[in-house]
Amino acid sequence: MYNMLKHAHSGLRWLLLAALLYAIIKGFQSWRNGKAFNKPSALIGLILTHVQLVIGLLLYFVYSPLVSYGEGFMKDTITRFYTVEHLVTMLLAIILITIGYSRGKRKADATAAGKAVFVFYLIGLVLILLGIPWPFRGLGAGWF
Ligand code: HEM
Repeated sequence: MYNMLKHAHSGLRWLLLAALLYAIIKGFQSWRNGKAFNKPSALIGLILTHVQLVIGLLLYFVYSPLVSYGEGFMKDTITRFYTVEHLVTMLLAIILITIGYSRGKRKADATAAGKAVFVFYLIGLVLILLGIPWPFRGLGAGWF
């Protein structure tokens, strides 16, 4: 179960990154070029973000051996990363993306809706990129 969830969580990052990028581009087009608001693109980004949250919560509270509040956990780079840094960065990103979606959904005109999605999703995407344990960061995670 652990391996399955870990690989799902790891692989899903690529779909999520692609979906967020697409929603950001669509949001920009509505905001700057007056195109109709593309709600499905924002919704797909939101759903994938929340699926990633659910898998992350399972890993965090049930399966991952890398999460620990044991003595000296803040001194170990990998334990601190998964127990504190990854969690905080990703939760913040998820909150911002959720706010962006609900604001966009409620706006009457496409320009305002697109702007909300563009701004909130872009900040969320940057946070997610910063919070991912990319292989070159030496945190023991892979590309997939
Ligand atoms: C929403 C954006 C998120 C992305 C893109 C993301 C991405 C990743 C990636 C790429 C890994 C490395 C997996 C590997 O070993 O190859 C990972 C690990 C992990 N993530 Fe996330 N994550 C996200 C959110 C979260 C959240 C919100 C939580 C907790 C509530 C979480 C908990 C974990 C844990 C505990 C691990 C370590 C798994 C292990 O190797 O034991 N993630 N995440």
